[in-house]
Amino acid sequence: MARWRTDEPEGAVTDERLWLARREFLRLGAAGALGLALPRPSAADDGPTGAVLPVTRRVDLAGGERPTPWGAITTYNNFYELGTDKEDPARNAGGLRPRPWTLTVDGEVHRPLTLDVDELIRRFGLEERIYRMRCVEAWSMVIPWVGFPLAALVRLAEPTSRARFVAFRTLLDPGQLPGQRRAVLDWPYVEGLRIDEAVHPLALLAVGLYGRVLPGQDGAPIRLVVPWKYGFKGAKSIVRVSFVERQPPTSWSRLAPSEYGFYGNVNPAVDHPRWSQARERRIGEFFRRPTLPFNGYGEVAPLYAGLDPRSLY
Ligand code: MTE
Repeated sequence: MARWRTDEPEGAVTDERLWLARREFLRLGAAGALGLALPRPSAADDGPTGAVLPVTRRVDLAGGERPTPWGAITTYNNFYELGTDKEDPARNAGGLRPRPWTLTVDGEVHRPLTLDVDELIRRFGLEERIYRMRCVEAWSMVIPWVGFPLAALVRLAEPTSRARFVAFRTLLDPGQLPGQRRAVLDWPYVEGLRIDEAVHPLALLAVGLYGRVLPGQDGAPIRLVVPWKYGFKGAKSIVRVSFVERQPPTSWSRLAPSEYGFYGNVNPAVDHPRWSQARERRIGEFFRRPTLPFNGYGEVAPLYAGLDPRSLY
């Protein structure tokens, strides 16, 4: 897989100064190339905050594109349990208590387990993965996630031969997630993957951003990231991962089955009733750019051989 390119040797530790220096270099570089003076980043983009995570490896899977600034990734969010406007999650995340936090793995597995998130981090180690992120609302970002492969958790749990799908359940607690007091969705937010999707090396459980612990609004302390799928597949604040025989229900397809499918693969050829998927707006850019099939991660296409491409939505 040509895309599976490591920027730094194993063992190199991500250093925030390196990030900031790279961002500054890119900012000045772009300005120089255009002969323009770019504005300094806004106050919301003062830079990453929160505890530093021990990242040991860095992989760029966004083709060297400049990551979207921290300020945008953490203030333009979809997390309906914290409000339905884009700015609501950042405003309302203060009540979410991401530590201590346990993740339960159960269902069709030989080793059901309940582990503290920090124990999972110690066990699997952390890498930084820069991925494109594409929302079904036709906006996109480039995000430097920190996490570990979902496949590592699958291996640890040892699924039985009956396990065909993985169901993700997120926190149900209106005290911490005030948006759950309104029946916008059928809470808790749930998502699912086929097991072969779950063990694909691109599927990630993220616990951080820009080398720091994940802010509440981005799905603290642990969320799913599946870069070839629309963002709604990326369940935030996960508490349970269950291995099941049948395709599990997913929040958005349960609410509007004609608008959202189980797969949610990024597909420029299949429009959503409200959003053409042919083009997308990268946050921070003016012109729209063409949407890439599978969000540019075409190596996953063999997973869907034989399926009607329209059913991939
Ligand atoms: N997870 C939970 N628990 N609740 C949500 O409302 N929204 C989804 C997904 N995960 C959502 C969620 C949607 S629609 C998108 S596009 C992404 O989170 C947004 O992730 P971001 O805010 O980190 O960009």
